[in-house]
Amino acid sequence: MKHYLTVSDIESLPDWVDEAIALKKDPYQFEGLGKRKTICLLFFNNSLRTRLSTQKAAMQLGLDVMIMNFGNEGWALEYGDGTIMDQGTSEHIKEAAQVVSEYADIVAIRAFAGLVDKEKDESEEVITGFANYATIPVVNMESSVGHPLQALADAITLKENEIKIRPKVVLSWAPHPKALPHAVANSFVEMMRMQDADFVITHPKGYELNPRLTQGCQIEYDQNKALEGADFVYVKNWSSYSDYGKVLSKDTDWTITEKKLGHAKFMHCLPVRRNMIVEDAVLDGKQSLVVQQAKNRVFSAQIVLKKLLENI
Ligand code: CP
Repeated sequence: MKHYLTVSDIESLPDWVDEAIALKKDPYQFEGLGKRKTICLLFFNNSLRTRLSTQKAAMQLGLDVMIMNFGNEGWALEYGDGTIMDQGTSEHIKEAAQVVSEYADIVAIRAFAGLVDKEKDESEEVITGFANYATIPVVNMESSVGHPLQALADAITLKENEIKIRPKVVLSWAPHPKALPHAVANSFVEMMRMQDADFVITHPKGYELNPRLTQGCQIEYDQNKALEGADFVYVKNWSSYSDYGKVLSKDTDWTITEKKLGHAKFMHCLPVRRNMIVEDAVLDGKQSLVVQQAKNRVFSAQIVLKKLLENI
């Protein structure tokens, strides 16, 4: 593996999940692997879990860590080829990526979708720009269209809570006051397609995810029907994909309640809006896996960094 940019970079999901669970039991067993090596974490957007879990994972592998809030503190980057840079951008991705490669052995990047221009978001100009021009491995810490570290953490959490061979897993849309990207839902779908599960996606009409990703997946527009017999309910808001970036509904009939959850385990990547996405009783109850998912972010990052370090 040269970079970790999408879920499809996972060489074997079951093997990686097992390795991550083993690593969790003895997190410092590969402490020497990153000695005298450096990872640079570049944030174009806010974070709590990704920033701290990736840093912790790196430290447990013995890496030195440099972090930069690039969105606020870096030069505005130009991505276009042959652009006359007489407007707002100050530095080209070609130089920026090569320069970072001189300071670090791995670079990890968070750069969300703008949700204005679908084509631009899908071109993944930031993460692709770094992958094209950096001479070191690049890790996706959530890009315009994917959050593969989260999806790997979710796979670890599903495995740790496995109660049957082929569980029913439901990905449910839930309401949110703002327009959110599709990255978490996209990567969760990609990861679930690698699992042996009865996987159902439920959302109001108009909230269909990119059909290229959901091809062959069961989509059920009746949330109550979708939730029947669920073992795991993964909840997330996303904005419309077809009416790109728009909020078409804030219908709180889609909010997850204890009654709707039944006996299922509740999953969400966090941060979560209480009593909008999900009611307090679910988050405060025993069926919520959200903190375990957040803890597993350390081990999803650590397994990815370990594999990249082994390849340097
Ligand atoms: N789940 C997740 O990526 O959390 P942060 O946005 O806080 O990093």
